[in-house]
Amino acid sequence: MLATDTLNPPVLPETAPTFFVRDIPVHGDAILAPMDGFSDWPFRSLCRALGSAMSYTEFVRAGNINQAYKHIASRMDFQEMERPMVFQLYGDDPDEIVKAALRVQDKHPDIIDINMGCPAKNVIHQGAGVGMMRAPLKVAHTFRKLTAALKIPVTGKMRLGWDDCRSYKLIARIVEENGGSLIALHARTKQQRYGGQADWDAIAEVKACVKIPVIGNGDVKLAADIDRMKKYTGCDAVMIGRAAVGNPWIFSRLDREQVPPDEVYRMVRQHLERSMSFYGEHKGLILFRKHAVRYLRLYRMSREMRAKIITKDDPQSFLALLDEYYTQLLA
Ligand SMILES: Cc1cc2nc3c(=O)[nH]c(=O)nc-3n(C[C@H](O)[C@H](O)[C@H](O)COP(=O)(O)O)c2cc1C
Repeated sequence: MLATDTLNPPVLPETAPTFFVRDIPVHGDAILAPMDGFSDWPFRSLCRALGSAMSYTEFVRAGNINQAYKHIASRMDFQEMERPMVFQLYGDDPDEIVKAALRVQDKHPDIIDINMGCPAKNVIHQGAGVGMMRAPLKVAHTFRKLTAALKIPVTGKMRLGWDDCRSYKLIARIVEENGGSLIALHARTKQQRYGGQADWDAIAEVKACVKIPVIGNGDVKLAADIDRMKKYTGCDAVMIGRAAVGNPWIFSRLDREQVPPDEVYRMVRQHLERSMSFYGEHKGLILFRKHAVRYLRLYRMSREMRAKIITKDDPQSFLALLDEYYTQLLA
């Protein structure tokens, strides 16, 4: 069923939870991945309404929360309908992470997640992101301190490891032994970044070596991949990143080709409206343009039209262009 009337929160499911993050029930097995620059409130809330089972914020540096909270506070704005709501932090110093987590806990997320997977140079050079996987003791201290200090569950998202040193099983056990309540595994190494094949066998290995829930991630491109990954690995849920951009309907188990053009049109307008109401008209449109090209990617579009779409900087002419494009498309 297509359900893009996202102004209405989803009806609470009557079925049993799919899994628990400590005491937090999660209904559903497909989850939008945290993505810097993409998984903001406008996009998250649309995905959640279409079936994503919980919401993760884009990652936020712990040090920024402690020093300049006001500038990044909007990254942690959310709506009740998004719950379970996960705030994701990264950092290289356990005490700094705990301080930041205590501060953002006051915004009432359901869960705090620690990013141990980001391969970006500016993140890893001091040992944050996937850099944490090279420092098992630091992971232990971070989770032990966090779980002692916070009332809410703490979870971790990681990769297979730095390069050849695939420390995923060790790190998964350390997270669990130090009070962590869930592990999400992006089954690629740092070296692979976002390319190459994800190793689903590793997801199965992690699932077999811990008792806490495991979310598998990597190479889920089509709706059918969700069940395929679950069946292959035994994981509790599947996390979807890039394949959801331009196709939030994947959370309703639909591939992009299955979504009719008029539904896509409604989504484009709704997403843009949300983006503008959240960021203000100008910034909202600028940030939305990268989504627009992904929504429309399937249709044959002239270079000229694409260039116009990604450069329009006032909402009225953007919407007029969209209408012009759709009139041609549907004719
Ligand atoms: C543009 C972009 C931004 C990302 N930002 C984050 C982030 O803030 N936190 C995080 O844990 N992972 C981040 N990731 C990684 C994704 O959560 C996910 O693990 C990765 O994209 C693999 O999943 P996919 O193959 O379904 O895209 C990002 C990925 C992309 C492509």
